Amino acid sequence: MTSIVLKEAKFTKLCSTKSILTVNGSFPGPTIRVNKGDTAFVTVHNQGKYGVTIHWHGVRQPRNPWSDGPENITQCPIPPKSSFTQEIIFSTEEGTLWWHAHSDWTRATVHGAIIISPAPKTTYPFPKPYAEETIILGEWYNGDVMDIIDEALATGGDPNVSDAFTINGQPGDLYSCSSATTYRLKVDAGKTYLLRIINSIMNEEQFFGIAKHKLTLVATDASYTKQITADYLMISPGQTMDILVTANQSPSRYYIVSTPFADSTAPFDNTTTTAILQYNGNYKPPSSIPFPTLPTYNNKTAAENFTKRLRSLASKAHPVNVPRSITRSIFITVSVNQIYCPNASCAGADGNRLSASLNNISFQTPKIDILLAYYRNLPKVYRSNFPTRPPYYFNFTGDVGNNTIYPSLGTKALIVNYNDAIEIVYQGTNVGAAENHPMHLHGYSFYVVGTGSGNFNEKTDPKSYNLIDPPEVNTVGVPKNGWVTIRFIADNPGVWYMHCHLERHTSWGMNTVLIVKNGRTNATSIRPPPKYMPPCSKS
Ligand code: C2O
Ligand code: CU
Repeated sequence: MTSIVLKEAKFTKLCSTKSILTVNGSFPGPTIRVNKGDTAFVTVHNQGKYGVTIHWHGVRQPRNPWSDGPENITQCPIPPKSSFTQEIIFSTEEGTLWWHAHSDWTRATVHGAIIISPAPKTTYPFPKPYAEETIILGEWYNGDVMDIIDEALATGGDPNVSDAFTINGQPGDLYSCSSATTYRLKVDAGKTYLLRIINSIMNEEQFFGIAKHKLTLVATDASYTKQITADYLMISPGQTMDILVTANQSPSRYYIVSTPFADSTAPFDNTTTTAILQYNGNYKPPSSIPFPTLPTYNNKTAAENFTKRLRSLASKAHPVNVPRSITRSIFITVSVNQIYCPNASCAGADGNRLSASLNNISFQTPKIDILLAYYRNLPKVYRSNFPTRPPYYFNFTGDVGNNTIYPSLGTKALIVNYNDAIEIVYQGTNVGAAENHPMHLHGYSFYVVGTGSGNFNEKTDPKSYNLIDPPEVNTVGVPKNGWVTIRFIADNPGVWYMHCHLERHTSWGMNTVLIVKNGRTNATSIRPPPKYMPPCSKS
């Protein structure tokens, strides 16, 4: 049983000091270490100023949505001065995941790693590394993140971008007042290290690399992959990647760099964060530290060249279980939209504010959580009619005209049967402005069986599906002006949030809820709720 405390703490970065919400006073927060198959009980004590929830990103939580955490989806917030114990059931995951706050924008400062080691008597599907390190890609805002999103929503525009990216909480020596605290990864020459990379950034995908060193990918989202050797990773918010790095260069210092991949017209933080890979031993420190060559911020081809290489390990010990035939086919358009804004304060010059949608429905978060409403049959909290096709078809990725800019508002859940073999095609659109969307689903990992550019063609595109060794992930990039297809078996009953992991898009409504009905037996049904759940206020 672990307990963690949400509280404000002061940090000095980029030459100024401010108070942020943290777990246990640290940024990033503490690491949770378990073995595959463990159950962890974590009591969250909220000593902050407002209600918060905590989510265990990528943990399947079989039949146990009560402890999943997204605010007003599976629970109401934990009020200040109170506690909530969550039961985290680790079943199929092995590798790196992470936990984060799931209330408005609090996850910017409230997050940490989850390390799931192989079950006792089993081991990695690669030679045991000499040592392991966690590398959390994050960011720093000079302003208060809760004010930033409130202001953006109030004015209808884009939120402020971050002021720095961070590696393990440190901006690194390209930013002012940051060089003394730059994160250093110390290595012994000749040894191989397992690095667990987590992208906890709010709004930007990243290219990551280490000067002169090859990166060998071995897992994503706590699922093993075939080994891929690369010069850089492209990692989206929400994703985790485990890589092996061998210290096989001359003993010296080398830059570790993370820099944005942002192929869009939305404002973004175009700065770069650094850390240092530092060999142990006696050598003359280099007069200038080698810097890796990473793709430029809008290099979509470089991003795709990395992503399309991902394959599941698909071994006897780590088999794939991708459905070959489908019982439920779903097609979802993913758009950033505008919407009429009735009150002058939130309208831009054209009378619109920014919004976002799935199948042209912009999700409205209810006041009472959907899980409670579903479990207790409470009326009027949500509706069960999320459409499995867009309202109409048009050239999604071409010139889309004006008539699809306005989504409708709604709290609509997508209902599927227990054990349905599900296929979801996410279709990016050029409505508003196209960009990548890292779509995340709670309660499941899923297989990415195909992806391509332009409009999805249901006759020809499925012919290219990989049903042999598709990567298994919990977050997938819907490519800019392209599509991606995922498949999974709906064998985890519950109420599961589905959303873009770019936080501004979530705030604008690029979300829905997948409700997987119970099976016929208790063992295939949602577990009863714990004795205590944080109360929902009636307002
Ligand atoms: Cu990282 Cu809804 O989650
Ligand atoms: Cu998005």
